[in-house]
Amino acid sequence: MAGFLDQIEPLKQAALAELRAAPDLAALEQARVNCLGSHGKFTALMKQLGALTKEEKPAAGKAVNQAKVALETALAQRRAELELKAALPQEPTDFTLPGRRRVVGKLHPLTQVTEDIVRSFRKIGFAVADGPEVEDEYHCFDALNTPADHPARDTQDTFYLEHPASRIQNPESGCPPSTINTQPSTLLRTHTSSVQIRVMEKQPPPVRIIVPGRVYRRDNADATHNPTFHQVEGLYVDRHVTVGDLKGTVEFVFKELMGSETRIRFRPHYFSYTEPSFEIDFSSALTRKMGKEWLEIAGCGMVHPQVFENVGYDPEIWTGWAFGFGIERIAMIRYGINDIRLFYENDARFLKQF
Ligand code: DAH
Repeated sequence: MAGFLDQIEPLKQAALAELRAAPDLAALEQARVNCLGSHGKFTALMKQLGALTKEEKPAAGKAVNQAKVALETALAQRRAELELKAALPQEPTDFTLPGRRRVVGKLHPLTQVTEDIVRSFRKIGFAVADGPEVEDEYHCFDALNTPADHPARDTQDTFYLEHPASRIQNPESGCPPSTINTQPSTLLRTHTSSVQIRVMEKQPPPVRIIVPGRVYRRDNADATHNPTFHQVEGLYVDRHVTVGDLKGTVEFVFKELMGSETRIRFRPHYFSYTEPSFEIDFSSALTRKMGKEWLEIAGCGMVHPQVFENVGYDPEIWTGWAFGFGIERIAMIRYGINDIRLFYENDARFLKQF
């Protein structure tokens, strides 16, 4: 018994010394295993308790337990110290280092260009109008004097939507639903020109609007095409409106957008909703940088009398002009971007350049 009790204190002191000296958490764990693990020295001592007599056991057990509590306390204390040490920075803090800046988000280049266009038109009294991207054939084509056999109405170019009501499931046959189109077609608008009609249907003249918005065409994506892209439509209706007004307005806006030395020219063209119709080319340092003097940028013209008839405006009284251009194209020229798909990939390395 005396021999047993004598072993406790030296073992305890040695174990305490080992625990307290542990330089890191791994060493501390090793020290714990050495004394308190299942094959540890202290555990071995406790196993000897069983060999003692009934009379010896209480005193010996008490002494061993006290020592064990002391070791466990020392272990917990050293662990807390070492955990704190591990959590603290290894290097001293250098308070002279510059602070970390948060990355501030930016507007998408297409949004920036759209906002610039809208700002220019607002200066000369245009209001922003809006219309649905899911359109009907009437507003996208018929009301714009585009005949039923016009190639733009071909399913090659337009995304037509299936009418939910026209998907008729035959419950007896178990056949897949058939598509029988009995209702007027709905489609994804192919241009923002449909909004001209929607606005004129709702308000009497005069009208002075621009319509930025998304449009859809069945194009395969390549460097210059994408099935969705953006346009800005313009419409001005009043008494005695002339091609001169159109040209002056377009010139003003393009000079603001592309630089004051920008020149524009009109080339005769055909659109079913304008007569006469033109394509607009522009020339600036930007076009010359792209190796061209003139670049085609927009379509425009004087609103066709039939379009006025379709919305109930008297073409004998009212005159007007309209135009439409692609926002991507303007952004590409402005920023020297050679692939339209870059706008839609959401690659931060591309986007943060603007
Ligand atoms: N809608 C035409 C297009 O998508 C652009 C256009 C041409 C719009 C002439 C007009 C216009 O308002 O008068 O290509």
